[in-house]
Amino acid sequence: MQKAELHVHLEGSVTPQTLREIEPSLSLDEIRARYQYTDFAGFLQAYKWVNLHLKTPAHFALITRRLIDHLAGQGVTYAEINVSVGVMLWRGLPVEEVFTAIAAEASAGPIPVRFIFDAVRQFGLDNAWGTARHAVLHKDRGVVGFGIGGDEAGGPAQLFREVFDYAAKSGLHLAPHAGETVGPESVWAALECGAERIGHGIRSIEDPVLVQYLRDRRIPLEVCISSNVCTSAIASLKDHPVRRLYDAGVAITLNTDDPPMFHTTLIREYELARDAFGFGDEDLREVAGNSLAYTFSAA
Ligand code: ADE
Ligand code: ZN
Repeated sequence: MQKAELHVHLEGSVTPQTLREIEPSLSLDEIRARYQYTDFAGFLQAYKWVNLHLKTPAHFALITRRLIDHLAGQGVTYAEINVSVGVMLWRGLPVEEVFTAIAAEASAGPIPVRFIFDAVRQFGLDNAWGTARHAVLHKDRGVVGFGIGGDEAGGPAQLFREVFDYAAKSGLHLAPHAGETVGPESVWAALECGAERIGHGIRSIEDPVLVQYLRDRRIPLEVCISSNVCTSAIASLKDHPVRRLYDAGVAITLNTDDPPMFHTTLIREYELARDAFGFGDEDLREVAGNSLAYTFSAA
């Protein structure tokens, strides 16, 4: 089945083996222990820990190559990859040099990919401006979108309104995380800022008016089931609203978020939808079709 991956973080795609290659003093057991969390804050700590080991453009080139090869092996024909430029800026990494290495690997890879530059909510407005400016600067090198991730409770979307406006006016698409760990009001805020797709958006299910709005406006949700289980964004797998959102007519896509950190693959996410939520072949074809229909660039 042809499908796209629309929500996968480059820095969250580092397998324990690759991280060990980058930092040989780490043991696989130690890394695997770090890839276990009981809540969202624990996951963000681990995500930061992985980021801190990525120190050179060559490290970013390596993880880009590994991610794209992995995606191609999952039958992915096109991907939009989130890059945590907000984290790079916070760390003082040379974004220009690092992204040059990432883009060079991407253009040599087996499938077409594009990039979404993500700011980090809790790092505030200046960090988001810096991220958006870099996104605009690199538009001709495959950057198609701007988003915000990180701690959703740590900064409402409205705070970044002017940054979203700037990115959109500069020709970028908007795909913020919202409704992952905060309720429907966070999704409404993202929509008011011009969001064209919502990262996660699962808590939209708590507001029937919002569900209808998403359906009527054809705003897709980038659903990441295993991520939500691992971060305890939902209480347990059976509580995941993916089926209810789909049945309500919302355009659903399936994605991995941070695949090795959530012990999953894109194929596994489709299998989960089938085995835990009764998605049939027709349904899965529709979901895969959505992933190709809602890309920000011609695949
Ligand atoms: N960065 C990487 N994965 C993320 C997630 N699921 N939510 C917010 N920020 C993230
Ligand atoms: Zn994410």
